[in-house]
Amino acid sequence: MTSETLDAVGATSSGTERFGHWIGGREVAPAGGVYRPTTSPVDRSVSFEIADGDGRDVDAAAAAASAARHAWAVTSTAERSELLHAVGTAVRENLDELVEAEIAETGKLIAHARAEMLSCADYFEYYAAVVRTLHGQTIDQGPGQHTYTRHEPFGVVGIIAPWNGPLNQASRGIAPALAAGNTVILKPSEFTSAATLRFARLASAAGLPHGVLNVVTGTGPAAGAALVRHDAVRKVTFTGSVPTGQVIAGIAAERIIPLTLELGGKSPLVVFADADLDRAARAAAATALMNSGQVCSATTRLIVERSAQDALLGRVSAILERKQPGVDFGPIITEPQFDKVLGFFESAAEAGATALTGGTCYHQGPAAQGRYVAPTVYKDVTPAMRIAREEIFGPVLVSLPFDDFDEAITLANDTEYGLAAAVWTGDASRGLRAAHLIEAGQVSVNGGVMTQETPFGGYKRSGYGREKGAAAIYEYTQVKTVSLDLGPF
Ligand code: NAI
Ligand code: MG
Repeated sequence: MTSETLDAVGATSSGTERFGHWIGGREVAPAGGVYRPTTSPVDRSVSFEIADGDGRDVDAAAAAASAARHAWAVTSTAERSELLHAVGTAVRENLDELVEAEIAETGKLIAHARAEMLSCADYFEYYAAVVRTLHGQTIDQGPGQHTYTRHEPFGVVGIIAPWNGPLNQASRGIAPALAAGNTVILKPSEFTSAATLRFARLASAAGLPHGVLNVVTGTGPAAGAALVRHDAVRKVTFTGSVPTGQVIAGIAAERIIPLTLELGGKSPLVVFADADLDRAARAAAATALMNSGQVCSATTRLIVERSAQDALLGRVSAILERKQPGVDFGPIITEPQFDKVLGFFESAAEAGATALTGGTCYHQGPAAQGRYVAPTVYKDVTPAMRIAREEIFGPVLVSLPFDDFDEAITLANDTEYGLAAAVWTGDASRGLRAAHLIEAGQVSVNGGVMTQETPFGGYKRSGYGREKGAAAIYEYTQVKTVSLDLGPF
């Protein structure tokens, strides 16, 4: 590092911690010399200053990732496994500094931020195990040929992460991409970059060779688009909105590179009248509270058998109306997202939906300083309303009644998305029938659990490709077939 870059990173005169990019195993100042502040959603104060990168910084990261590519690809799976495990251990050992950075930019409740950082460690430990099972096939064409397949890395993988689970979602891509033998350039959200930068530093200290993991920060149009366009980048994984996914898919189409797209949803939570309504109500309330509904797979469309609707919604509202901002649920992470959720409240009121609880932000007290909105349940919703069709990405549940099984499935599938679903019923066979008919990549019946080990990804406009699970490692490989002619027998 030159003395110039040393001077440019570190702390600003106001004492705010400042982060450069992480390129080639060291902190690097942005080529343009500009840093952007990130803010706390809890009180809108400045949290950090983050390098505002552009194509020149992506070029530098691509050079580092390309230089590291061959040596990393030829390591044994055992070596990569050991290093990934060491990264997971480093996360556990330095949990507090990651939690602190994540909370400073997202306002997550501490228990939630800790759980997300532990799950980040788990991604590395899980793919450290999975890579030991990576194998090709032998193909028997007769005794004269020896033919087999290899799962080879693409080379440099670009990952673009959003702001709702910053390091967690980054790890979901980084761990399998590295396990498969790729080097990575990650662009975090411009709203939430600090935990990922601290993580990259820890990963290098844990022994990850320089250039294997690079983090370039900056906005989507400047740094993100340059990453997707870069010749060195041979595969891209994106998590975020449909419009940005479409822009990225357009570039990937021109460049003929594969993509994994995770674009969120409008996922149903279907409740039959014979369900355990207390458990179903707790699950629905938890969906609103968890990260304040800023979860791509949040099951926020409550599709409830008419005879049970009042009982269920009464329970859900009773849970939610007692919850305190900053204690039981966190803020909306970004200012544009806060405005967007308030816009949905207006649209719901205009459309004639009834808020059983919530439907506003906070106008007094400490919560008014931050980007908090009240957990909300809407009744008298019709399928055509915007709140029933569009991803709100806030602690907002909408309820639609049904009269029979077929109508439940029709309503569940009446969305352009298909990321996740939940079904609650006292009849497990009916639950599985519903699971098989709902067009979504993950369906949880009666509280069935999803983890690192369960494949995750969209049907329909929720995207394509799968993350998590053993299969995800194959998304970061390309198949090569090798055949040797053994000569005449
Ligand atoms: P976004 O899709 O614009 O941002 C996600 C990431 O993409 C960020 O890192 C951003 O810098 C990057 N990006 C933006 N424009 C880009 C471009 N032209 N090229 C390359 N990268 C680009 O999401 P945004 O605008 O912050 O949120 C809008 C909505 O998207 C939310 O209201 C929510 O409905 C949805 N969303 C879904 C997420 C999910 O987990 N699937 C995560 C975040 C948002
Ligand atoms: Mg956007």
